Amino acid sequence: MKTVFVLNGPNLNLLGSREPQIYGAQTLADVQALCERASAANGFALEFRQSNHEGELVDWLHEAGQLHAEGRLAGVILNAGAYTHTSVALLDAIKGTGVMLIELHISNVHAREAFRHHSYISPVAKAVMAGFGVNGYALAIAGLAGMAVAA
Ligand code: DQA
Repeated sequence: MKTVFVLNGPNLNLLGSREPQIYGAQTLADVQALCERASAANGFALEFRQSNHEGELVDWLHEAGQLHAEGRLAGVILNAGAYTHTSVALLDAIKGTGVMLIELHISNVHAREAFRHHSYISPVAKAVMAGFGVNGYALAIAGLAGMAVAA
């Protein structure tokens, strides 16, 4: 059974109370439960994590890269939060590991402030998911399963 890594960046631990008009009322624990269900339905094991620290996200991408090298990774779903718009280190980690990665945003970043329109992740992402609310996580997991079938 292959593993899907779902990695969440800064401030996503505040889901449920953080700007609910933008990010909704569900907590990160709710999102984890949703990802557990979606992973089980698609035959994946799940690693679900959140960090407010850029370097920890880099370390986790390296860990996913190790699984990828062993043929045991389904893919990575990354909501890098604000690091999406700032982090060359995350870009380099994705490039350096060669993991298949879906960039995810709960909100439609393109309908928001101009500084959210640029992503360092998009050029090295297989796909981008934005604006589906937290249900985007389940859609992205199903999308990874579809890509595995198509491959
Ligand atoms: C976000 C969008 C980012 O611009 C923001 O900094 C976040 C969350 C989203 O899920 O919509 O922290 O990635």
